Amino acid sequence: MRSPFRVLPGRAGRKSTTREPIIQEPEPFEPEATRRTAGATESSHANRGWWDRNADDYQVEHGTFLGDDRFVWGPEGLDETEAELLGPPEELKGKGVLEIGAGAAQCSRWLAAQGARPVALDLSHRQLQHALRIGTQGIALVEADAGALPFRDGVFDLACSAYGALPFVADPVPVLREVRRVLRPGGRFVFSVTHPIRWAFPDEPGPEGLSVAASYFDRTPYVEQDEAGRAVYVEHHRTLGDRVRDVVAAGFRLVDLVEPEWPSWNSQEWGGWSPLRGNLIPGTAIFVCVRDERDA
Ligand SMILES: C[S@@+](CC[C@H](N)C(=O)[O-])C[C@H]1O[C@@H](n2cnc3c(N)ncnc32)[C@H](O)[C@@H]1O
Repeated sequence: MRSPFRVLPGRAGRKSTTREPIIQEPEPFEPEATRRTAGATESSHANRGWWDRNADDYQVEHGTFLGDDRFVWGPEGLDETEAELLGPPEELKGKGVLEIGAGAAQCSRWLAAQGARPVALDLSHRQLQHALRIGTQGIALVEADAGALPFRDGVFDLACSAYGALPFVADPVPVLREVRRVLRPGGRFVFSVTHPIRWAFPDEPGPEGLSVAASYFDRTPYVEQDEAGRAVYVEHHRTLGDRVRDVVAAGFRLVDLVEPEWPSWNSQEWGGWSPLRGNLIPGTAIFVCVRDERDA
């Protein structure tokens, strides 16, 4: 499966003039896509590099759809303003919210506009530079891996993640445990990932993306690797049941699983996400989890 967020390296052609020496440019590097195992360290290293190298292209390609200060849960365009998965927007005022894998902090900017106190955390330095470029009024930025959160226990009221970190980590349970640790008892964590069913289909927006081509039960990660076999991008597949078990193993209670339907207003494609496929099969799964008071 091709990554939903994969952006091919820029190929802007450079013209040579007769006055310039003609230099043979190396062929742009095309990583090999494969399915193979990839552990926690390899996945984290590969993804930090990938997001640093591709953040500029990613923000150019998707920044308009995401909006500088909207909270969009995925390519369907489900907006937190209407979904209220973190609770009614008027109740966010004064709440400490941790956004995991925040990218350019679009969601945190929306949270700040509601009066919340967001902390936008991301692994990629370049993604956070885009957050700085767009603006960080009312937002704290933190560069860290979601697997080792640099916060004391119980300091956040809420946590959220729109496709940040969880699709990319080899073992989601330690990340979920970390998020639970930094939430106060009664706190809520809402996160979105690629809907697991998508892994059974070719990651193509057209009709070729409608026929099952792989086993849904094959958990082997999707890896892009360089000539030396080093991973340069990794995504990890969990079945729906795996995701539920991960949430429970981390000590959360799952209170909802949202599968956004493709809305009629959205005619935009995003990688393998398209109106054609979105009207037939789910593309995003959103997990709403609570750290119960009694678990304090
Ligand atoms: C698809 S973006 C999500 C950001 C934003 N919601 C968006 O839609 O653009 C995924 C983000 O997760 C970050 N990420 C990946 N693995 C991570 C990890 N282990 N810890 C923290 N952030 C991570 C990437 O750097 C990237 O910015």
